[in-house]
Formats: sequence, C-alpha cells, structure tokens
Amino acid sequence: MAMADPSWKAFLERIEHAESREELLRIEHELFGRKSGVMTLKMKELQAISPEERPKYAKELNTWKQKLSQALEEAAARLTIPADTVLASHDTLDVTLDLPERERGHLHPIQEFLRHVEEVFGRMGFDVATGPEVETEELNFTMLNIPESHPARDAQDTFWIKSAKKGKDRLVLRTHTSPVQIRYMRTHKPPFRAIFPGKVYRKDADATHSPMFHQFEGFMVGKDITLANMKAVMIAAITQLIPGEVEFRFRTGYFPFVEPGLELDVRWQGEDKTKEGDWLEIVGCGMVHPTVLRNGGLDPEEWQGFAFGFGADRMAMIRHQIPDIRSLFPGDVRFLRQF
Ligand code: DAH
Repeated sequence: MAMADPSWKAFLERIEHAESREELLRIEHELFGRKSGVMTLKMKELQAISPEERPKYAKELNTWKQKLSQALEEAAARLTIPADTVLASHDTLDVTLDLPERERGHLHPIQEFLRHVEEVFGRMGFDVATGPEVETEELNFTMLNIPESHPARDAQDTFWIKSAKKGKDRLVLRTHTSPVQIRYMRTHKPPFRAIFPGKVYRKDADATHSPMFHQFEGFMVGKDITLANMKAVMIAAITQLIPGEVEFRFRTGYFPFVEPGLELDVRWQGEDKTKEGDWLEIVGCGMVHPTVLRNGGLDPEEWQGFAFGFGADRMAMIRHQIPDIRSLFPGDVRFLRQF
C-alpha cells in the first residue's frame, strides 16, 4: 500500500488508556475523521489496489477497523459517554456532514404564466376548470356554432383522431379551449365566471406557431353582463399579466360562437417587448352567441354574458422576451434555466 501501515496497535493502546472523554474524541477523530482520519484514508486507498490483491488488504484492515471501533465503544462506556454519541464509528449519523446542494427545478415558463393567470382571474372571482384534449367534433365545433362548412374544420388545421367513432362522436385534438364553455355550462348553475386553461392543437409550425400550444378561455354569464363588463375585465387582467404601460384597441372580429365578436390588440411604448408601436392581437372575445348558450342548456332570454380566448404562449413570450415559440417545447435545460 502507498502509505506505510500506521501502528494500529499503538492506537489501540492509546484508546485503552484514554483518561478523558476529550482525549477519546481526539483519537477517534485521528482515526475516523471524515477527511483525514488515518483509517478513513486507508479505506480509500483500498480502492486503488488491484482487485486480485484487494481482499488480502481489506481483510486485515477490516479486522483492525472493527477492533478499534469496539475499543472506542468500550472506552466510551468506561468514561461514561453514552455509546451513541461516539462520533466516528462508521454507521453513526454525522450531523456535521455537508451534503452537496440539491439542484432545484422550477415550473416551465408557460405553466408559471398560467398559474399567474389563474391568480389574476381568481382575484376577480373566476373559477378554474379544464376539459379533455381529445374532444368530440360535436363539442369542438358543432356546439360552438361552427358550421359544417367552416374552414376551421378543414383537414389543414385540425388533427383528426382515427377511431371507430363516427358522426358527431368523431374525435379531434381540440383546436381551442372553447369547448370547455359547453362542458362547464352543462355541469354548473348560472350565474358563473370561470377560466379554462390548457393545451390545444393545430397543424401549424413556424417561429410564431407550434402544433401544440396553450390557450386560456374564459366566460362570465349572468342576467345583465354586458360588453362594458367584458372591457373592464379584459383591461384589468391584461394590465396585471403584461408588465409596463399597455395600450388597448378593441376591433370587431368574427368568431361563430360570439355575437358581436371582437379582437383585442395591445401595444407598448418604449420597451422592446415587441417592436415599438406594433399592435399585437392577443385575444378574441365577444358576447356569447344565443345558440351556444342554448347548447349549454341555458335560456338566452334569461342569461347573457361574454367569453374570451387568449393565446397563452404568445403572452408568456412577450413577458420573457422569447423570440421563437419553438424554443419553448423541446425541454432544453439551457433554455429553461434562464427563467
Ligand atoms: N377559440 C378562438 C380561437 O381559438 C378564440 C376565441 C375567440 C375564444 C373569441 C372565445 C371568443 O371565447 O369569444 O381562435
């Protein structure tokens, strides 16, 4: 072995003649100290010895280790130190040991953003609900007043699921979170306000489109909910979701499930979140179409309200100044660590 064999016998004698608890602890540390204990180092050296020779050395060393540990215990008892406070016997818990720091993860920026959305709307009294990502054609399109001939149903945009289910039960990967509106209406009693965050799917892929992306839908239905309420809720929410000074622009827009329908654009002054002065469309909204209310089981003569659908990825990209949506999803930790 590399290091000359220490005199184990001398150690043994010192232990047997130790006169105080301090002395014993010192010897113990010399032998079994974690970094420079003589026995500790010897045990480490064993690993460098060829496997053929190792057993020979190991056996002797182990015998001494046991002898010395036992002598320490006996001496400790003799000096009335409770045996379990003896520091170094190898199976004793070393409370002074520094463990390597555990790496901590964190939520993906999109999930973190959606939690924030839930908080913001939660403070305004909105419930949170989710629906399935594999949805029926009926709920994804028909119940939302999207006609049979509408281009959104086109094979270009929608992922159809191959299955035996035919007709209205045909399955799709939901193209938006809007079908959760119907599910929610059918299972809750109005008045209600709720948001529906989740993944949606479309055949689309470039720097600003991913075939899987995230939306959060929402609606508020009551006896007298109007566009004025919608405007107030949209502005209050966006102000909290996008930091800095934001300008708003409501435009008319067409979505079959709302009437009237609007699109809401935002822009910033100064900051480089988007090119200064560019309007960016972030949400579609409007008053829930009477047919949609009826499909959800509500009487449109009695109930009315607004609905909205946000693209969550885009908003998270603005928040973190991420230029390409495709960097969000491969799970590359070099990218994710930045947030
Ligand atoms: N579902 C629409 C889309 O994916 C977004 C949307 C627009 C949702 C208007 C709504 C709404 O609830 O009222 O493009």
